[in-house]
Amino acid sequence: MSDPSAASSPAPAPAAKPALAQAAIVDAAARPNYFRTYLTRTDDRMLLKLDHYLDVYHDLLRDWQGRDVTFMEIGIFKGGSIDLWKGFFGPGSTLVFLDIDPACQAFAGPGVHVEIGDQADPVFLKSVAEKYGPFDIIVDDGGHKMDQQATSLRHLWPTVKNRGLYVVEDTHTSYWPGFGGGFRQRGSFIEIAKDLIDRMHSWYTDQDEIFPLHPAARQVESVKFYDSMVVVEKHLKDPPKTISSKNGVVQESRKMLTVRGRKSIF
Ligand SMILES: C[S@@+](CC[C@H](N)C(=O)[O-])C[C@H]1O[C@@H](n2cnc3c(N)ncnc32)[C@H](O)[C@@H]1O
Repeated sequence: MSDPSAASSPAPAPAAKPALAQAAIVDAAARPNYFRTYLTRTDDRMLLKLDHYLDVYHDLLRDWQGRDVTFMEIGIFKGGSIDLWKGFFGPGSTLVFLDIDPACQAFAGPGVHVEIGDQADPVFLKSVAEKYGPFDIIVDDGGHKMDQQATSLRHLWPTVKNRGLYVVEDTHTSYWPGFGGGFRQRGSFIEIAKDLIDRMHSWYTDQDEIFPLHPAARQVESVKFYDSMVVVEKHLKDPPKTISSKNGVVQESRKMLTVRGRKSIF
């Protein structure tokens, strides 16, 4: 077989790339992945993440780098993610880390708060939220069991600021029976997150008995599913409306929704 890469005649000049594609290439080259470069700067505190999370965070948090935030991560382990986040956010940030293991208290330091307790304990979560909240970003990298992830989301979601993010890592445990998961297992975190998709759309139905309007419709901007990671973005929003424009005249309407029998909610 002939070598498909062998050139038999001079290669034609490459077609000019569209301007947008060019801009994307330049942008990607100009913005090094902080999370990847951080891997070479760790100390003896081990960092433990799935490799592809570094690319997800690079994309997801592009507007957050250097900003002063209130950030909380559940799960400290060997402490490796503390400096990862400390170096990513601004120097005026409040960084809070939770763990059930009392030994993790040793990781507290300047600008780094450590709280010891169980992420499945609503009383503990409430006390932490009252002390440090509200939060711009919460990352759950704790015990990864279903009741832990669900309880933390339920009790910490109200403490996320408008336009903030709630991130749950290692959601592959939703498929592991040992963690309370299983394929399409009711109550697994992945199933809870799928339910959120319905709830986000609960504006658009009049099936009140089986599908009532849920507060998530006013609060959830997006639910993003990555491999083993779910991200919920909060946006406190008005009911959706259509927008039309003709001859430069813009009109807004909520008719599309009222025909579905939800006049009462507007
Ligand atoms: C995957 S490790 C955290 C790794 C760390 N975030 C990193 O990126 O290097 C999980 C941690 O969650 C903690 N953990 C387990 N169950 C917990 C619970 N119920 N509440 C709080 N922390 C828990 C464990 O003690 C462990 O330190």
